[in-house]
Amino acid sequence: MNEQKIVDVENRLMANVFAKKPVVITRGRAALVWDVNGKEYVDCTSGYGVALLGHCHPRIVEAISKQAQQLITCHAGYYNDKRAEFLQKLTSITPKGLNKAFLSNSGAESVECALKLARKHMGKPEIIAVMGAFHGKTMGALSATWDKKYREPFQPLVPEIKHVPPDNLEKMREAIGEKTAAVLVEPIRGEGGIRVPPDGYLKGLRDICDEKGVLLMFDEVQTGFGRTGKFFACEHWGVVPDVLCLAKPLAGGLPLGATIAREEVMSSLKLGDHSTTYSGNPLVCAAGCAAIDVLLEENVAGKAAALGAYFISNLEKLREKHKSVKEVRGLGLMIGMESKFGVLNVLLKCMEQGILVLDAGKTVVRFLPPFVITREQIDKVISVLDNVLEEEENARASGASPN
Ligand SMILES: Cc1ncc(COP(=O)(O)O)c(C=O)c1O
Repeated sequence: MNEQKIVDVENRLMANVFAKKPVVITRGRAALVWDVNGKEYVDCTSGYGVALLGHCHPRIVEAISKQAQQLITCHAGYYNDKRAEFLQKLTSITPKGLNKAFLSNSGAESVECALKLARKHMGKPEIIAVMGAFHGKTMGALSATWDKKYREPFQPLVPEIKHVPPDNLEKMREAIGEKTAAVLVEPIRGEGGIRVPPDGYLKGLRDICDEKGVLLMFDEVQTGFGRTGKFFACEHWGVVPDVLCLAKPLAGGLPLGATIAREEVMSSLKLGDHSTTYSGNPLVCAAGCAAIDVLLEENVAGKAAALGAYFISNLEKLREKHKSVKEVRGLGLMIGMESKFGVLNVLLKCMEQGILVLDAGKTVVRFLPPFVITREQIDKVISVLDNVLEEEENARASGASPN
């Protein structure tokens, strides 16, 4: 199919729920992707954080190819070698005490499991999330997501899920009541604009949850697996949740979600309480095993920390130079640059110049590059952004910019 045909077919035959960018991506390697015409892009999106290990990491490709010849699918009603291996590897890297997992296929599903687990374990219905949170778009996860543009068309949502202001321990303490089962937060809010909590917030949440006897659940779908410079973002503050939700990069690009809890908590889910046909699919688990090997052996977290610091320091220079840049924030390779204006034009102009970046809300440019991005590639991103910001500022000064 040629470029135009591909675009036409997707527009005609696929639900129009994605804000499509006008580019057809057909190939990827490490931190680069190429479009159908062979044009190269530095990928600072990683497919919304999935390709943290880089596109087509050789060890992931090898693991998938090998397993595909052996066994692709095996329902969790039967035992499987790759699933067992993956579970061992996974629970060897999760924070202490989190040692029993339910495997699923996406971030939203990992949250769904956490919500059901909290209600079942506690025998209480209420979940408290925070304003600005994003936990996915299936009905349960959506009920914990904050943005009303996602929620309103689908009312009524799952009841007894409420939101309190983020980073505010007093409001959280006040909100927890008799019927509260759990508190659910992202350690660093991603979609909400890359918001790093103040020191002491997560520890404070842990203390409040302990005091009130409710579960603390961390959604690390975006922050987990080394992206922020630690295996899990909660480790920056030394806080261990009762339930941890993972997905995105967990299987090096294949769909895999995991909800991991302390044994005594996960054991509240009894036979038939929860399931998915693909749970712990061998192909995906083989990729997951390879992904954890890469995480450990290639120092993903350490490199994310160093490259992130380099990236952020260069973005800070742009902030000093460009009046439109309000703030730069983030940890490791999870970075946001807040603008005084809408950033859609910045995204599109960067793309024209061979850089893929994301937004996080209307005014934040979000960078989620793979850990294999090079310093030279980061320099290129900075230099393109420098030009684009200047163009945008000039266009705005002359009244020409539309967003
Ligand atoms: C923190 C967080 N939780 C959950 C999700 C939902 O994941 P998925 O899109 O795989 O359902 C996302 C996706 O961006 C996310 O960032």
